[in-house]
Amino acid sequence: MTGPLVDAAGASAGPRAPEEAQRVLDVRGLRKSYGESAVLCGVDLEVRSGEIVSLLGPNGAGKSTFVSIVAGLRRADSGSVTIAGVDAFAQPGAARRMTGLAAQDLAVYPVLSARHNLQLFGELAGLRGRELGTRIGEVARALRIEPLLNRPVGLLSGGQKRRVHTAMALLHRPRLLLLDEATAGADVETRTYLLDVVRELAADGSAVIYSTHYLQEVEMLGASVALLEAGTVIARGSVRELVAGHSTPAVEFRFAGPAPLVVAEPGREGFAECHDDLLRIATPDPAATIAATIPALGEDAGRLRGVEIVRASLETVYLALTGRRYASGGELS
Ligand SMILES: Nc1ncnc2c1ncn2[C@@H]1O[C@H](COP(=O)(O)OP(=O)(O)OP(=O)(O)O)[C@@H](O)[C@H]1O
Ligand SMILES: [Mg+2]
Repeated sequence: MTGPLVDAAGASAGPRAPEEAQRVLDVRGLRKSYGESAVLCGVDLEVRSGEIVSLLGPNGAGKSTFVSIVAGLRRADSGSVTIAGVDAFAQPGAARRMTGLAAQDLAVYPVLSARHNLQLFGELAGLRGRELGTRIGEVARALRIEPLLNRPVGLLSGGQKRRVHTAMALLHRPRLLLLDEATAGADVETRTYLLDVVRELAADGSAVIYSTHYLQEVEMLGASVALLEAGTVIARGSVRELVAGHSTPAVEFRFAGPAPLVVAEPGREGFAECHDDLLRIATPDPAATIAATIPALGEDAGRLRGVEIVRASLETVYLALTGRRYASGGELS
C-alpha cells in the first residue's frame, strides 16, 4: 500500500499477527432497523487483503445499508466494524481515510468539472500537489475519462457520471474499497475496464466489497460471494464452494401444453417437479436421466418441444437460495 494516511492509520493499530494484518475488514453482528423494520439482522463479514467479495442479494436485501454503515455514512444499532485494526465506530476519521466508497447514489457536484470534482475529493482524502495530479491522471486513464475532465459533470451522460463518481473512490488507493453497483447503467466496454481497475487494486492489496446484480461479473472478478437476503448473510464462500454445496444439475423437458410428471429412474421421484409446460428433474447424471425419461414419456413424447441440461452455476445457487427468477442477460431481479 502507498500513501501516508494508510501508514499512519496502520501504525496506530500497533503490531499485529500476520493473519490479523491480512484481515482488512472485520464486521461482527451488525444490526440496523428503520423504525419497526429490521434491515440488517446481525451481519458478520470478513474481507482480507487482496480479496474481492461480491455482495449479492435481491432488491431491499440490505446491501447499500451495509455498505454505507461500513463507510461511516450511517449509524448501526449494534455490532462492530473494524478496518485494518481500527474500530470504525470509535475512530471514524481514521477508518474513513482508509476507505474508498462509490455509493449506489451518485455523489458528484454537477456544476464543477470532472477534474475539479476529483481534486476536491482527493484533497479530502489527504492527497496534495503532484501526488494528487498524478493520481487524477492515473484514474482518469484507467476509467477512460481523460476527454471528460474539463466538462461540467452535470452535462455528462449517466454512464460517464458514474465513471467520475467511481474514480473519486479510487483516487487515494484505499485499503478498503466499497463499490455499490458501480457498473449499473455502464456500457459493455466501460464495465470491462472498470472490472480491470478493481482487479488491479485488489492485486495491490486492497480489500474490495463489490455489490452487483450481474452475476457474470463475480466470475470476471474472481470474487468470492456473500449472499445477503433480508438482512442476513445466507451464503458465503467461493463460487466453486457455493456451487458444490448448494446446487445440482437438472434436466428440463419442455412440452406443448401441461408437462407430465414422469420419473423413470427409481428413487428420483422427490427430485422432479412440474411448472406449467416444464418438467424439471434434478440429477447428478443428466445424460442418464434423459436416456431413461424419453422412452418413459409414452404418448406425451409427441408433445415434447425441447430438452435442456441446466448446469449447476452461481445462478442456480442464487435461485435455489433466494427462490428468485433471473432476467435475461444474467441481471437478477
Ligand atoms: N433511510 C431509510 N429509511 C427507511 N428505510 C430505508 C432507508 N434506507 C433503506 N431503507 C430500507 O431498507 C431496506 C434495505 O435497503 P437497501 O438500500 O440497503 O437495499 P439493497 O440491498 O441495497 O437494495 P438494491 O438492490 O435495490 O440496491 C429496504 O427495504 C429499504 O426500503
Ligand atoms: Mg442498493
